[in-house]
Amino acid sequence: MTKFNRRQFMVLGAAGTGAALVSSSWLRSDIFSQPAPQSAVNSVLLYQSSDGLLELNLEASESLVNLANKQAYLLTYNGQIPAPRLEAKPGDLVRIHFANNLEQPTNIHYHGLHIPIAGNADNVFLHINPGEKITYEFQLLPDHPSGTFWYHPHLHGLVAEQLFGGLAGLFIVRGKIDEIPEIQTAQEEFLVLQDFSPDERGKRATSAHMSLMMGREGNIITVNGQINPNIFLPANGMLRLRILNASPSRFYRLALENHLFYQIAIDGHSLSEPIEVNELLLTPGQRADVLVKGDRELGQYRLLNLPYDRGSMGIMGGGMMRDRNRNNQDQPIVLATVNYKSAVEFLALPTRLASISALPESQTVRSFELNHGMNPTVGMAFLINGEPYNGARLDTEVKLNTVEDWQIANTGVMDHPFHIHGNAFQVISRNGTSESLLTWRDTILVKRGETVRIRIPFRDFEGLTVYHCHVLDHEDLGMMGNLMIKA
Ligand code: C2O
Ligand code: CU
Ligand code: CU
Repeated sequence: MTKFNRRQFMVLGAAGTGAALVSSSWLRSDIFSQPAPQSAVNSVLLYQSSDGLLELNLEASESLVNLANKQAYLLTYNGQIPAPRLEAKPGDLVRIHFANNLEQPTNIHYHGLHIPIAGNADNVFLHINPGEKITYEFQLLPDHPSGTFWYHPHLHGLVAEQLFGGLAGLFIVRGKIDEIPEIQTAQEEFLVLQDFSPDERGKRATSAHMSLMMGREGNIITVNGQINPNIFLPANGMLRLRILNASPSRFYRLALENHLFYQIAIDGHSLSEPIEVNELLLTPGQRADVLVKGDRELGQYRLLNLPYDRGSMGIMGGGMMRDRNRNNQDQPIVLATVNYKSAVEFLALPTRLASISALPESQTVRSFELNHGMNPTVGMAFLINGEPYNGARLDTEVKLNTVEDWQIANTGVMDHPFHIHGNAFQVISRNGTSESLLTWRDTILVKRGETVRIRIPFRDFEGLTVYHCHVLDHEDLGMMGNLMIKA
């Protein structure tokens, strides 16, 4: 296409000769009448570390918020949907003075961060009662990966409900990846994907049993608490999107009209080089960092969520229980709109991002089977190796400073994204076929019928933590195990 800067275009336009050069959408007056490009998507509160310390007050409470231009009673951190964005650097100390003003107990999990799992750190066994306060304190290692992480409640039995209420925020670690020149000059936008189901009075609906078993999905999908916000492409034509699936159950299959994504990170971990993809599948809990090159005609392009079928309840549901709100019956949904106004320069993509070395072969191989069974009260139980979660049982004990292979087989009828706390892993194979992309991640999709083998180094931190399905209703209904890391 013809490249021209904004001033040249204005001149052409004023002379009435520019029309042939530009796409029709560019001529629409609503685009012209916009004020200077500005980000409508990032009005989220931000706390950044300074002098090696990130310290803040964080309060969980039910708040009346504006959601998609209606008032709704949601569960918030500091009154915000999504929660405030926290930013720190490797080596920083993090101190969060947390107050629970919910009507239920809660706690906070720092998803993907490699930090201590005992004490007042990433400890999912903390039980913070209504009205109680606690100070979370931990230090990021000097070599902590830089990337997109997040925080959310993790009290077993209430995780899905509290996340569905809105309690989720980004935790960004700034470091090496941010110093790569091509990435530094790109315009950074953060997209927190959440779905909600407020009723007419703005109250949070209590989900029916069947949708709990499938995993609850809301009928309103928001990006940073907004419906279809605008994202403006900068003049240099390069956008950096950090995308988080903060929904309890909904999978997002993302595509940007007429564009490819150049993925630079998965789950907060940089890839070795950008990879070109036309779709991004994000299960609950997963993150993707991508670059978008504004090399198309000026105009508007829709960021779409494409349908995805994550399974059904099979014979239990008898086909009758398919929830209308679920992705697999939907048309593509517009999540946001990318606007080009005057991309005049076209930045190059970075070539090298990070060096990733393959883990050594491991001596220990463990097997996990994901499935479900009957439960007399709630209908269905979600199981790992035939057992629903039991807080008093130790399921897996590993030795600190060892590497293990875990073979995860999904023999059920629904897809399950498998997540391990605190320790990222490499994917070795899927259904026996070795994985070609060497990368670190913390949540891996195991589709129904699949077997995925991952390799995990257990380093630095000992203590008790968990692994689970990140469809959080499945986790609350039992698909979780206790993991002890022992020196
Ligand atoms: Cu976002 Cu236990 O996880
Ligand atoms: Cu986690
Ligand atoms: Cu699951």
